Amino acid sequence: MKLRSIEMVLPQAEAAANYLTDIWGAALAGIHNNTFYIRGSGTFAYLVALEEGEEKFVRSITWECESDELAALKQRLAKLELKTKPIESDDLGGGQGILVELAEGEVFRFLTGSEHVEPLQGKDLPVKLTHVVCNSIDAEASGHLVEEALGFTVSDRTKGMVFVRCNQSHHSTAFARSGFASLNHIAFEMEDVDAVMRGIGRLRDNDTAPAWGPGRHGPGANVFAYFIAPFGAVVEFSTAVEIVPDDYQAGAPEDWTWPPKRIDQWGISDKDFDGLKQAEQQFCFRRDWQPEAIS
Ligand SMILES: [Fe+2]
Repeated sequence: MKLRSIEMVLPQAEAAANYLTDIWGAALAGIHNNTFYIRGSGTFAYLVALEEGEEKFVRSITWECESDELAALKQRLAKLELKTKPIESDDLGGGQGILVELAEGEVFRFLTGSEHVEPLQGKDLPVKLTHVVCNSIDAEASGHLVEEALGFTVSDRTKGMVFVRCNQSHHSTAFARSGFASLNHIAFEMEDVDAVMRGIGRLRDNDTAPAWGPGRHGPGANVFAYFIAPFGAVVEFSTAVEIVPDDYQAGAPEDWTWPPKRIDQWGISDKDFDGLKQAEQQFCFRRDWQPEAIS
């Protein structure tokens, strides 16, 4: 299973799309159904869908899976009380699968049969999304729920986050111990550290400094730089997170501590805690579909 995309609704979607293509460095995949689709250099049809709407919300986070993985997922979900719905995707790339609403309203979508596209050349393009993180009222419970309901695995727990993987990458999502439920941030995977650094330069050319970074995280060991996008969401340039073995031992908060004043491995950057916290509350999840049995 692989994280593929996030589907967002917001006013002035075109301006948000222009930011992601002209400044952030991604590419326009197409415009369809009042929605701007943003892609990277990889073969996913798109990474971010920006749909014009009056209010900001997240429609879904989408994972791509094989048909046997989807069948196993349906079996797990049949034993639980979560709200679900079978769906045919009318987003770019199509595909069919299911929608699942988690305990705090997060909507995850699992698709099989989505079309892939030819890769693009360009060293400043993001390759794909490396992770999308949610804010949680009870991150610990969310971690347990995705293990039970989705077959995901908690990779590490820190004072701030519960990191979760759905394949051998250390995390594709995480639940932040925030005290509220919303989108925390969207991380774009860049080709290498240089591409992350060039991205920071591109943003600086547009008079924007990182809200946090550059730095190197503990869990996942990825190099990062976070920015608050003009459309309100927190976006991250990231290198790929580390690959972990199947028997990776999940660390506990006491295994992931920093020396005084440090909040990353390098210790070279400040963090705009207040700005990030405000931005992290801009996009909540919204289920605008009626549950239906999946079979
Ligand atoms: Fe991140």
